[in-house]
Amino acid sequence: MKKITLGTPERFTPSRFCPTFHHEESDVSYPVKDITFAKTKRGFLIKLPLQKGEHIYGLGLQLKAFDLIGKKMTIRPNADPMAATGDSHAPVPFFVSTKGYGVYLDTARYAEFYFGSSRPLKARDKDGKPKEIAISTEALYSHNDTADAMIEILIPSVDGVDLYIMEGDTVGKVVAQYNMLAGGGCCAPEWGLSAIYRCYSRYSQDKVLEMAKYFREKEIAIATIGLEPGWQSHAYSCSYVWNDALYPAPQKLLDELRAMGYHVNLWEHAFVHPSSPIYEKLLPYSGDHEVWGGCVPDFATSEAKKIFADHTKTLVAMGVDSFKIDECDSSDLTGNWSFPNHASFPSGLDGEQYHSLFGTLYMQTILAALGDAPTLSEVRNAGALAAPYPFVLYSDLYDHRDFIRGNATAGFSGLLWTPEVRDTQSRTKEEFICRLQSNVFSVQCLINAWYCEEAPWLAFDCEDEVKYWLSVRESLVPMLKEAFDRYQNEGIPPVRALVFDYTDDAETYRIDDEYLFCRDLLVAPIAAGRDEREVYLPAGEWVDFFTGERVAPGKFTVTTDGIPVYRRVK
Ligand code: GAL
Repeated sequence: MKKITLGTPERFTPSRFCPTFHHEESDVSYPVKDITFAKTKRGFLIKLPLQKGEHIYGLGLQLKAFDLIGKKMTIRPNADPMAATGDSHAPVPFFVSTKGYGVYLDTARYAEFYFGSSRPLKARDKDGKPKEIAISTEALYSHNDTADAMIEILIPSVDGVDLYIMEGDTVGKVVAQYNMLAGGGCCAPEWGLSAIYRCYSRYSQDKVLEMAKYFREKEIAIATIGLEPGWQSHAYSCSYVWNDALYPAPQKLLDELRAMGYHVNLWEHAFVHPSSPIYEKLLPYSGDHEVWGGCVPDFATSEAKKIFADHTKTLVAMGVDSFKIDECDSSDLTGNWSFPNHASFPSGLDGEQYHSLFGTLYMQTILAALGDAPTLSEVRNAGALAAPYPFVLYSDLYDHRDFIRGNATAGFSGLLWTPEVRDTQSRTKEEFICRLQSNVFSVQCLINAWYCEEAPWLAFDCEDEVKYWLSVRESLVPMLKEAFDRYQNEGIPPVRALVFDYTDDAETYRIDDEYLFCRDLLVAPIAAGRDEREVYLPAGEWVDFFTGERVAPGKFTVTTDGIPVYRRVK
C-alpha cells in the first residue's frame, strides 16, 4: 500500500481518530505520476486516471447506487438518502476498482467524486469529432466509454489530503487491505448473531417480560431483547435514566431476562437532555448548538468521552450487553435536525467534520463503557476506518430492494448492514416473510417492533413461519462466527457483493441484488411483491442450500416463496 501526500493535509482526519490505524508502506504499480492536484476556489481538486471498462464501488453504505462509474457522488452523512447522490447513513471516502486498485482519502470533509462523469475539454472539429485523428478501431468506437474521462475529486475547505493506494487481483483483496488499514474487521459474540427483537417503545417492564416469556414458551429463537425510547425518563433529547413509570424496578427486569438466557440492548442517542445527570458535566465539552433541546457532547475530547462512558458503565453494570445508538447521522433531506455544518466543538472540529466522525467517536465511547465485554450493537452513522467496531448499521426507511442492495454495498467500505424487519413496512404476510428471509441471511437478524404493540407476525397469522426462519438463523450462527473471525484477521467482510470474489467475471459488475454470505453461500433474495427472479451463479460448483441438489452455474429463473440460497462446493 502506498501513501501519497498531496498538498498539506488538515489536522483532523479519520486516521487521527483511529487508534488501530496501521499502514505499511510498499510500492504499487498504480501510475502515481498521473495523479494531479490543485487548490481551487471551491476546494482541493484531485484528478486520477480512469481506464476503459473500469467499474467502481464503495463510498460507504449506498442504498440507491452500486456501480459508481459515470456517477457524481457527494458523500454526506444523512438519515434519509433519497437518490444516488452519495448521501448515506455511513459515507466513506474509499473506493475500489475492478482494475485491481482502491483509493482511501483520509478526510472528514464532504468530498465530491466524479467517476468519469466529467471530461476535459478537447478541441473538436465542426462535426463535434475530436481533432486528434483516431488511428485504431478501439479509439474510433470509444466515444461511449470512459476512455478519455477521469476521476475528479473535490474536497472543500482543505489544502491537501493523504491518499492511500492499495492493490490486489480481486475487489475482495483490495477491500481487505482497506479494512486491515483500520486494524481489521470486528469480531462478534454468538449471541449477537442470533436474532434480536426490539420491543414496542411504550411497553412497561411487565409487558417486556411477558414478551420474553412468550418467545421461550413458543420456542421462537430470540437471543436479545431491545428496549426503545420508553425506557428513559426523557428520550428526545436523552436522559439515560430509567423511566420510573414504565420501569419501576429495572434491575429486577434485567435479572429476570438474564435468568431466561436473554441479552439486553438499550436504545439511545447522544443529544443530552438537561434533566440528565451528565448534562451539566458535559456542557463545557459540548458543541455550540443544541439538538432537540439537548447538548451535543464532543466525543473527540477525552473529557466528554469519559463522562459519557462512565455513566454508560452504570447501565452495563446492571446487565446491559449492547446499545442501539440512534440519530447520529443527521438530516439534510427531510427532517433537518442535528447541528449545522458550521457548528464548532471544543476539540477544534467543525460541524462538517463532526458529522463525518460522530458515529465513530460515539461507538468508541460506548465501547469504552463496555470494556472487554463482547458486543454486537447497532449504530445509525459510521464513516471511514470503521471496520473494527462491532456495530451494525440499520434504518427503516427504504423499500425492500434498497435493503437488499445495502447488503451488497456495505462490505465495500468496512461496514455492516442489517435490512431490519419492521411491522409498518409490510402490508401483507408475504411481504413480512420475504423481508424476514433476507434479514435472516444478513449480518444481524433484527426484528424492530418499536412501533408495534404486538409481535408483528400475529397480525399476519404466521407464527410458525417466523419460528422456522429464526431456527434457520440459529443454524447459521457457527458459520457467521467463522466469517467474523475471518473479518477480524483478514479483513474479508462476512457479507459482500459477488464482484468481491469474482472480479474477473464481468457479469457480476452490476449485480446488486445477490450477495455472498459467510465463506461460501450465495444469497439471491426475492424482493417483496414478487415470487420469481433471475439468479446468476458464477462459474464453479453449486448446490441448493436447502435441498443439497446440484445447481448448474449461469443464469436461470427461480420461482419460490422461500429465499434462493446456494452453497459453493468448489
Ligand atoms: C428512529 C429509529 C427507529 C426507532 C425510533 C424511536 O430513529 O430508526 O428504529 O428506534 O427512532 O424513536
